[in-house]
Amino acid sequence: MYQSPRGTSDILPEEQPYRLYIEKKAADIARLYGYKRIDTPVFEDTELFLRGVGGATDIVQKEIYTFEDRGGNKLTLRPEGTAPVCRAYLEHGMQNLPQPVKLFYMEANYRYERPQSGRYREFHQFGYEAIGDSDPVLDAEVIDMAWQFYVSLGISQLHLIINSIGCSHCRPQYLEKLKTYYSTDTQNLCKDCKIRLEKNPLRLLDCKNDSCRRLAASAPKSYEELCPECAEHFSKLKTFLTVLNLPYEIDHCLVRGLDYYTRTVFEIQPEIEGAQSTIGGGGRYDGLIEELGGKPTPALGFATGIERIAANLKRQNLSVPTTPGPLIFVAYLGEAAREAAVNLCSQLRKSGFAALQAPGSKSLKAQLRQANSTGVRYTVIIGEEEIKTGTVQLRDMTTSQQENISAEQLKILLGKSNQ
Ligand code: HAM
Repeated sequence: MYQSPRGTSDILPEEQPYRLYIEKKAADIARLYGYKRIDTPVFEDTELFLRGVGGATDIVQKEIYTFEDRGGNKLTLRPEGTAPVCRAYLEHGMQNLPQPVKLFYMEANYRYERPQSGRYREFHQFGYEAIGDSDPVLDAEVIDMAWQFYVSLGISQLHLIINSIGCSHCRPQYLEKLKTYYSTDTQNLCKDCKIRLEKNPLRLLDCKNDSCRRLAASAPKSYEELCPECAEHFSKLKTFLTVLNLPYEIDHCLVRGLDYYTRTVFEIQPEIEGAQSTIGGGGRYDGLIEELGGKPTPALGFATGIERIAANLKRQNLSVPTTPGPLIFVAYLGEAAREAAVNLCSQLRKSGFAALQAPGSKSLKAQLRQANSTGVRYTVIIGEEEIKTGTVQLRDMTTSQQENISAEQLKILLGKSNQ
C-alpha cells in the first residue's frame, strides 16, 4: 500500500469545512484591509530563494526541495510566499501602481522539516504583503489585520510579540556587540550556535537549547541599539498599536528565521507551550525588493499556517459551519420508472436542489437503505403508477411518513426546506 509522503497529508472531506471556513475568513479580512489576491507558481528559480530568503537561513540550508528539470533549470518548490510575491511585483511593473501595493495569497509551501505536530513538509499559508511604504502606521495595520483575522475566527488567548531588529545602518554595530557578548561564553553554546556565531549571529537569540536560552536572556537587545530613524519608527509603531488597542510584549529574542527582515518583526502565539506554538509571523523587509534587482522599496507582510489555525480551532472546541449534505434521494421501482427517476433527479439539480440516486440495478429496499445511510431529508419513490398520474411518493426520512404529491408540490416543498 502506498502512503502519502512523510510530512504531507490528504485533506479529507471531514477536514474541508475547517479549510473553507478559514479561507473564507481570510478572503473577508483581506477585502476589509484592501488586499487583492495573487497566486504565484508552486516552483521558482532556486536563485530567488537563495537571494530572497537568504543563503544562511535554515530554510535554504536544510529545508528547500530543489531539483533540476529536463532543461537543466535549477528550480525550488516554494518554501514561503514573500520572495515570489516580490518577484511578481517587479516582473509586472507594480512599482508604477499607487503604493503600497497590497497582495494576499493562500498557497501550499514545502519545507524539508522534521515532521511533528504542527510542523509538516507540505503546509498551507494565508499570507499578505504591503509593498511600497515605510510608514509605521502600515506596520501597525498589518499586525492589526493578523489580530482581527484570528478574532474573526473566534481564536482567543493570543499573545502579540514584537521587536525591532534595525536596518542596514544600525544592525552591523549591533551584530558586533552580540558577537563580543557571545565570544566570551562560546563553551556554553550548542553546536549549531557556534556556527551561527560566525554566519548568522542574530539567530543565536532564538535557539531553543536551554543553555543558549540562558545566554540569550542577558544578551544585548537590538531595540536598544537602533539608529535614530529606526528608534523613531519603533516608537511610532508602539504608539499606533496602543491606539489600536492591541496588547503587545517586546521580546529582544524574537528575530525570525528569514534573512530579509529589517526593523519590525512580530509573531502571534497562542497560550500553549511548545516550539510549534507560533500561529503566525511577519515583519518588515525594506531591503528585499532591492536585493531582487528593484529600486529601494520598503515593504512588510505576514503569514499564518492554515493547519495551525485549524488545530487551534479544534483545541478551543470552536465549531465551523458545515456544508449541507444532499436534500433528496430519488428511488424507483421497475425499469421504466428508472428513466423517470434519472430525469427527475436531473430536473431537481437544475432547480438547485442537491439530489442523489442509486447507480446499478438495485431493489427498492436496497435503494431505501442507501437513502437512509446518506442522511437525506426526503426520499422520492417513482413507480409505474406515479408515472401514469404524474406524481411521486414522498417519504419524510425523519418522520417516516409517506404521501403522494405532484411534481410541482414537490418543488415547492423542497424550496421551503432549502431556505
Ligand atoms: P514563517 O514564520 O516561516 O514566515 O511562516 C509563517 C507561518 O507559517 C508560521 O507561523 C506557521 O504558522 C506556518 N508554518 C511555517 N512552517 C510550517 C510548517 N513546516 N508546518 C506547518 N506550518 C508552518 C514566513 O513564511 C514569512 N514568509 C512570513 C512573512 C510574510 N513575512 C513577511 N511577509
